[in-house]
Amino acid sequence: MGTETGSPAWLKQAIFYQIYPQSYYDSNGDGIGDIPGIIQKLDYLQWLGISAVWINPCFVSHFRDAGYDVDDYYRVAPRYGTNRDLYRLCREAHRRGIRVCLDLVAGHTSIDHPWFKASCRSRRNRYSDRYIWTSSIFSEAKSTLSLVRGYSERDGSYVANCFYFQPALNFGFARPDLPWQQPVNAPGPLETRRELIKIMDYWLGHGVDGFRVDMAFSLVKMDPGHQETIKLWQVIGEKIRARYPDIALISEWGNPEESLAAGFDIDFVLHIGLGGYTDLFLNENSFFLRHDGGKIQGFVQSYLEQIAKVKGKGLISVPSGNHDIKRLRTDGRTASDLKVIFTFLLTWPGVPFIYYGDEIGMLYITGLASKEGGYDRTGSRTPMQWDSGPNAGFSTADKDRFYLPLDPRRNRPNVEEQASDSGSLLNHLRDLITLRRHYPALQADGTLTPLPVETSQRHFAYLRQANDERFLVVLNPSAEPSSTKIKGIKPGNLSPRICRGVQACVEGDDIQVKLAGVSYGIFKL
Ligand code: GLC
Ligand code: CA
Repeated sequence: MGTETGSPAWLKQAIFYQIYPQSYYDSNGDGIGDIPGIIQKLDYLQWLGISAVWINPCFVSHFRDAGYDVDDYYRVAPRYGTNRDLYRLCREAHRRGIRVCLDLVAGHTSIDHPWFKASCRSRRNRYSDRYIWTSSIFSEAKSTLSLVRGYSERDGSYVANCFYFQPALNFGFARPDLPWQQPVNAPGPLETRRELIKIMDYWLGHGVDGFRVDMAFSLVKMDPGHQETIKLWQVIGEKIRARYPDIALISEWGNPEESLAAGFDIDFVLHIGLGGYTDLFLNENSFFLRHDGGKIQGFVQSYLEQIAKVKGKGLISVPSGNHDIKRLRTDGRTASDLKVIFTFLLTWPGVPFIYYGDEIGMLYITGLASKEGGYDRTGSRTPMQWDSGPNAGFSTADKDRFYLPLDPRRNRPNVEEQASDSGSLLNHLRDLITLRRHYPALQADGTLTPLPVETSQRHFAYLRQANDERFLVVLNPSAEPSSTKIKGIKPGNLSPRICRGVQACVEGDDIQVKLAGVSYGIFKL
């Protein structure tokens, strides 16, 4: 059963939550979060109203890039538990109405993967063509690809996808023009494709509900417009969905027109690809700033263009953050600012993705030494803060064994305190989730109609609608109060649902709105 978008129906009202497993909850006191730890926190996620989780890679790895360097796709990393723990996580999550999506690193493995070790041998073997190798380390032509020379006894350079230790799997070249560049239907690329399908099948067969695919755009090389990569994912998606029609396929791509044509259900507004995320939240003149912020209209324009292009094919999500981006809560941003941002995120089309810890306003920690290839991403990956105890309830280990240090501030936010405070960010988010899950107009494919705003103003107002259900959302991230008359929307009535600092009253066909500084309002019309 699909929606108008062709995606599984459950996505329409889904609320996703991203878990960075090493930092979530440590169940056995070794200082590293693990899968049994996630299972222990499922009640919390259910309480919050989460309907699906995406877990960052949890497979055997040397963790040079936090697990995005996979050594074995079929085995859970011992530091996180066992395969059985993961199967149990799926069962326990399902009992609570929560689906489980894994992170599929489709484009590359680690240099320690047995396939790559075999591929490095000079003698031809089954894995020689599993990766992309030039024919000799000396004679390679200039290439836009990133080539690593001198690593192996095999005479050739390999193509790396991201870091040097992430050799690109061989899915072929769109337009091969040198002998070492194989076409997409050569035996090597076809074998890689079969293996990828096998991996997906394996986990789906054990209860997993879908995948977030890492660098999904990267598979076929030198592929203008990603045409061949799109075709490749179409084939994979068809095969997989024939057996598992209800799964979610989510891409890290950053170009919905391409990724949704490729058969993904959801793509993101990110810091990469077409971008948009950084402009919205993290730049000097982002809209969501208390002081000296800019306009949102540029973002809205581009979002509307993109949803028009992908109509009927899938959804575009604006995440609260992820493990690659600075957290929303940088110094200077307060819980009140975040309440405005979450009001936006939870009333926006697409599927909301909440990055662990953002729901309590965890801080981006500056000045940390890079951990597992994190570099400046490390500050967004610190342990989850569960309570006000000395270890924040993350682990019973000595602090020096923690995966990463905790936010050092004495008043760091935590779940326990915020859960019992009805005015907290956490409860605001929970209220928003409850509202969204109740009303189709606020969900993934309810219509979005931005309302005109005078150029001198910094608030933002829009309608969401499904059938005759209509909501008005108004946001003012700025410290300056503001007011506006919203014309001609003929409200039958105006019932405030989640509001702070916004007064609105009906005047004939119009609505007169007064917004305090840093305010938000959701009204049912
Ligand atoms: C994706 C991941 C990122 C990783 C990279 C290489 O962008 O989100 O964390 O470093 O791919 O796999
Ligand atoms: Ca542990």
